[in-house]
Amino acid sequence: MTEFRIKEHPILAVEAKKGVPFTWQGRPLAARSGETLASALFAHGIRVFGHHHKDGAAQGLFCANGQCAQCLVLADGSPVKSCMELVRPGMRVEPVDALPALPAVGAAPRMDGIEEIAVRVLIVGGGPAGLSAAVELGKLGVDTLLVDDKHRLGGKLVLQTHRFFGSQDTVYAGTRGIDIATKLEAEVRSFPSVRIWLQSAALAVYADRKVGILKEGRRYVLVRPEILLSTSGAREKTLAFRGNTLPGVYGAGAFQTLVNRDLVRPTEKLFIVGGGNVGLIAGYHALQAGIAVVGLVEVLPECGGYKVHKDKLARMGVPIWTSHTVVSANGRESVESVTIARVNERFEPQPGSERSFACDTVLIAVGLDPVDEFHHKALEFGLSAFAAGDAEEIAEASAAIFSGKIRGLEVARGLGREAGPVSPDWYRTAEILKSRPGKTVPEEYPAEETGVLPVLHCVQEIPCDPCTTACPRSLIQIASDDIRALPAFVCDPDGKGCSGCEKCVTICPGLAITLVDYRKDAAFPTVTIPYEFLKEGVKPGDRVWVTDTEAAPLGEVEVVQVKAVKANDRTVLVKVKAPRAIAKKIAGIRVQEAEASVPLEGWVRRMEDDTVICRCERVTAGEIRALIRAGSRDVNEIKSVTRACMGPCGAKTCTPLIRRLFREEGVPDAEVVDQLKRPLFLEVPLGTFAGAGGEGD
Ligand code: FES
Ligand code: FES
Repeated sequence: MTEFRIKEHPILAVEAKKGVPFTWQGRPLAARSGETLASALFAHGIRVFGHHHKDGAAQGLFCANGQCAQCLVLADGSPVKSCMELVRPGMRVEPVDALPALPAVGAAPRMDGIEEIAVRVLIVGGGPAGLSAAVELGKLGVDTLLVDDKHRLGGKLVLQTHRFFGSQDTVYAGTRGIDIATKLEAEVRSFPSVRIWLQSAALAVYADRKVGILKEGRRYVLVRPEILLSTSGAREKTLAFRGNTLPGVYGAGAFQTLVNRDLVRPTEKLFIVGGGNVGLIAGYHALQAGIAVVGLVEVLPECGGYKVHKDKLARMGVPIWTSHTVVSANGRESVESVTIARVNERFEPQPGSERSFACDTVLIAVGLDPVDEFHHKALEFGLSAFAAGDAEEIAEASAAIFSGKIRGLEVARGLGREAGPVSPDWYRTAEILKSRPGKTVPEEYPAEETGVLPVLHCVQEIPCDPCTTACPRSLIQIASDDIRALPAFVCDPDGKGCSGCEKCVTICPGLAITLVDYRKDAAFPTVTIPYEFLKEGVKPGDRVWVTDTEAAPLGEVEVVQVKAVKANDRTVLVKVKAPRAIAKKIAGIRVQEAEASVPLEGWVRRMEDDTVICRCERVTAGEIRALIRAGSRDVNEIKSVTRACMGPCGAKTCTPLIRRLFREEGVPDAEVVDQLKRPLFLEVPLGTFAGAGGEGD
């Protein structure tokens, strides 16, 4: 049987794992040990997990993060979120094709008392911010409980195969996210005062200042913290367009979870919506996994992500269409194609500009919303509360690492520990790490054409400086104490110049430094290019297409060496011989052929009912718009009439879309009454609150 798994990866180790037998609709299949049901199903090409009880629409994965409940399946008769549930041997898995029936109860379940514990600090979320905070609290011996709903610590870090930005001395810049997760986890686990509960979801903060935790997915525990630190990260925003709920339309984070965490190959042809860092990086990760990226659309005239990420993706051969949007995802049971169109200055699709492309997956990467409900409820109920990372403000993971560190010290001080004041420099660094990309300057090439020298194709101000610390001769410098300023190669006063050590080429997270060596042949210098794909993909003697920084083709050149050494931490250095006239302009090698992005003939119209806004309850924009037009300004009213917001995701998915509908109808935010938000923030079996948790309860 065909399995859709990644067999080799340029960055991630592919380990042999024990098979875990389970069945899908009676068909015997095998998962890998420690794998979630959703990943195991995807690995067997199963993407439709059921059909909605209201209109029979096909349902599948969306967030892969336990937030949306789109991935519901029946496991041994009970409905579970397949993206969170690990496969157990012999599990019988079925699609949810109607409202699931309650499981049969043989005997009265055993009800135990509810355990209640007190801790000084409760950290909700074991991602970059939570781990960094726990390290600071651990160093001071503060009694801390860190809970995370996943099976391993690290949050989004474990999905990041690329090197991080920022600076080396504060946030591990130049190190890959996956490796930062390992380092932080090891450090946190070395502190006896920090307890860790994995697979333990925080459910709610109550008026009596207790926090309900479903410990290890089974036991309900009430935790009484003196301070609650929310580091619960972010959830992905969704977008309203025709076909937006088809299986195959899902979040970029979900994609990275399948590909980078579980080494599943969920798609052959991918289309990306959103040119922020998340979308750009997801495209790069897809190419690393051997998946074709048909294209990326960004509705703004410029991508919002770092230019180095955008340039990198474009150089690899992925078309990026700015001022374009997705019109529809097309297909009957799952995505078969996508239709895009150019937009005008009001972001309206322009008739006549539509194009369709064959693809099986549309990634939505249109931004993130903070998971901040725990923090807000804690503040409302008078519990001392702090937030860090994306739960406080959406920014890069490097910023989350640093804000967690700061918040850890602030929490310790809040408890009266001798933590010392947080240096004002730290707050400044935190602000710098959070900052959006600054100005972009035209690229200038060095005048010299002798010896060996690096060419910095880095022309946008972003918080990043590992090249300056990597150069053993300190010849790459930033002329400011602000790491957002652009780095430059400076002449050495001793006249020693660049030695060609390649350290800067290897460490640059944006793959934006090349090395041009004129020493052996000034007419045909050697250009060293960083390459993060399988080293077997290119070999000496091959001819490869090279491009300039922004993907303009420069010509075909010969590969003279492929250097894959341990010290370079999985970054392969490809050396090409190029004519002097183009050598300094070369910034990358194209890895994807243009055929991957050829549009279909004509364009696919998706003539479905109106766009679905509340995917849990299948409520369309038309139904909600009609109420707004009839004068409704209260989301509670819309909720009672249509059932929008009443689904298992707890309105996390549709709330921003409903707000947008109000805005589209000319109703200002201030006039809209938000729906009441009551605990719980996550659905659990009712018996949980009566202490039922044992096998079969
Ligand atoms: S896809 Fe599983 S909860 Fe969202
Ligand atoms: S989308 Fe889940 S409640 Fe509306």
